[in-house]
Amino acid sequence: MVVLVSGARGQLGQALQFISGNYPEVNFVFCDSSQLDITNFEQCEAVFNTYKPNFCINAAAYTAVDKAESEPDKAFDINTNGAQNLAEVCKAHQTVLIHVSTDFVFDAYYANGIAYYDREKRLPLKSTFGLLETDVPFPSGVYGLTKLQGEQAIQSTWNKHFIVRTSWVYSEFANNFMKTMLRLAADRDSLSVVADQIGTPTYAIELAKVLMTIVMAQSTDMNNDTKYGIYNFSNEGQCSWYEFAAAIFELSNIKIDLQPIPSSAYPTPAKRPAYSVLDKTKIKDNFGVEVQDWKQSLANCLAKL
Ligand SMILES: NC(=O)c1ccc[n+]([C@@H]2O[C@H](COP(=O)([O-])OP(=O)(O)OC[C@H]3O[C@@H](n4cnc5c(N)ncnc54)[C@H](OP(=O)(O)O)[C@@H]3O)[C@@H](O)[C@H]2O)c1
Repeated sequence: MVVLVSGARGQLGQALQFISGNYPEVNFVFCDSSQLDITNFEQCEAVFNTYKPNFCINAAAYTAVDKAESEPDKAFDINTNGAQNLAEVCKAHQTVLIHVSTDFVFDAYYANGIAYYDREKRLPLKSTFGLLETDVPFPSGVYGLTKLQGEQAIQSTWNKHFIVRTSWVYSEFANNFMKTMLRLAADRDSLSVVADQIGTPTYAIELAKVLMTIVMAQSTDMNNDTKYGIYNFSNEGQCSWYEFAAAIFELSNIKIDLQPIPSSAYPTPAKRPAYSVLDKTKIKDNFGVEVQDWKQSLANCLAKL
């Protein structure tokens, strides 16, 4: 079985490379952006013709959330056109596409302990905990919009797809919030972190394992068309960025003056969802995935540094 991974140099790509030894039956082909530029359709075709993958995991994306506001064409080219290109070559080769998307397709907010998922219509969340795959997306920034359009391009092109939405990804690899906090703490005595955005951190190694759980499950019955679609995956529980930072410092035994601030005190080019906790019931039910609490996963990650 051949599993092609695009975006191999990114955080998730490196996490997939790290766990690849656990799957001796799989022939992984890892391509970075120089070997497979997903915006280049001819290059996508050539790579697929060479390796004839059974599965393609798309870990490539434009992820600079704030920069996307000033270069929307580039974000669209990678997150939407790139996804479309992969869906088309996957269709031509009958390759199952596993695409990664984001909680930023939503713009929900949180007030008085109640999460609302439509700022304009003031629609409360359903009785289940967290945003569902079926909740109506409405991104508030360019990044989220291009990721949503990428999902839609895949959905309208090739039915054999899994779209896995995740949130707040960190790991020992590449750039992420956890590493930024550790770096800043080395230079500063105090830090202020936003406390009114609520979500769930996701350890990239666990995300990588879940993507491979989907690959392995689907590979046992390639004619099973019943499981394709959108899935949520993050760690369990919820926190603010401030609480995430506090846990990073606590688990690393770092003493620092950490102050909670409102988003209004830390303006950014892109607006971020105030609430983006994802409900994981569907992925648990369909793939038997066990989801670890975010703080336990964070401790595991920090122990590796
Ligand atoms: N990080 C998060 O907090 C987060 C949260 C929710 C969802 N996600 C989603 O999770 C997925 C993985 O994110 P990540 O954290 O691993 O991102 P990342 O570390 O920024 O990695 C993205 C990778 O995509 C590559 N890339 C960019 N343009 C490309 C192109 N045209 N063709 C091929 N590769 C290209 C980059 O290659 P170069 O290194 O060569 O530039 C980079 O290695 C993405 O779909 C992202 O939207 C991430």
